[in-house]
Amino acid sequence: MDVQSLEEEAQDAIAAAVSAEELDAVRVQYLGRNAALPQALREVRDKETGRALNEARRRLSDGIDAQREALESEELERRLSEEVVDITLPGAGRPRGHLHLITQIRREIEDIFLGLGYEVVDGREVETTYYNFTALNMPTWHPARSPLASLYLDDDTVLRTETSPAQIHTMEQRRPPIYMVSLGRVYRRDTPDATHVPIFHQVEGLAVDEGITLADLKGTLRHVMRALFGEDREIRFRTHYFPFTEPSIEPDVSCFLCDGAGCNVCRQSGWIEMGGAGLVDPKLYEPVNYDPERVSGFAFGLGLERIAMLRHGLPDLRQLWENDLRLLHQF
Ligand code: DAH
Repeated sequence: MDVQSLEEEAQDAIAAAVSAEELDAVRVQYLGRNAALPQALREVRDKETGRALNEARRRLSDGIDAQREALESEELERRLSEEVVDITLPGAGRPRGHLHLITQIRREIEDIFLGLGYEVVDGREVETTYYNFTALNMPTWHPARSPLASLYLDDDTVLRTETSPAQIHTMEQRRPPIYMVSLGRVYRRDTPDATHVPIFHQVEGLAVDEGITLADLKGTLRHVMRALFGEDREIRFRTHYFPFTEPSIEPDVSCFLCDGAGCNVCRQSGWIEMGGAGLVDPKLYEPVNYDPERVSGFAFGLGLERIAMLRHGLPDLRQLWENDLRLLHQF
């Protein structure tokens, strides 16, 4: 075997290899188990030839290592120049969510009442007809009890149509003085249109203590309306009827857009309807054993969607359910 020319041939092959795979093939071809050189090494008998073969093998092995390193650093250079990252370019912004408008208003209202020393109480979305109607003094013939108006789960169970049942639960669970609000979803069998959706939100308020009067109700609502709609707001009461309050009133707030001069939002009246309220009807105290001679109270219920609509000039409540980010991101 001509060791010298074999080695030359192998070195040429090593130099010609341009990838790790090619280099591996060269290694197998010249230094693999069945290659001529290792074969000769296994069979060699004299020292001289043995040393020559060994040295040739070592040089080839070194040559392969050197070529591998060269290929690797070439590859590294190539990637470093090709895959260059310009760290001075502005990054791609990640989209960030935020609280839904109704949740924001809900938390804002909770904060306003917490500031007044009120407690925030959880209600139940699934109610018995007792808490949703009967305990609130609604007669059996009241239209809200109709399955055409309310969503029943069975004969005695209904998705609450208002947050008012929270008043009853609260009065059952504790004694006056009570200052609580309860906020959440309510359900009615309404066909959706611009100002009605079958699921909406209310804030219920209840204060029961010694010597509570309509003036306390008015002062409280005025404070809340000023916090929501600006420092100059005034409140007025119109008489109304609710089964659970006596007297019942509907509070109006002076229009925050025209300051009472008259505009489209207040329908030229200068006043905006804000919900329902009144002094708790003493009938509600009987089942919970409160003494109407000793305590009195006020209650109110306001719609959160209505506050959102007024504040932001929302033309259509259904938009709040569509989750169109172009709308939601505005708030
Ligand atoms: N529950 C009434 C409704 O859904 C709103 C309401 C009116 C709540 C008067 C009250 C109240 O607490 O005193 O229309």
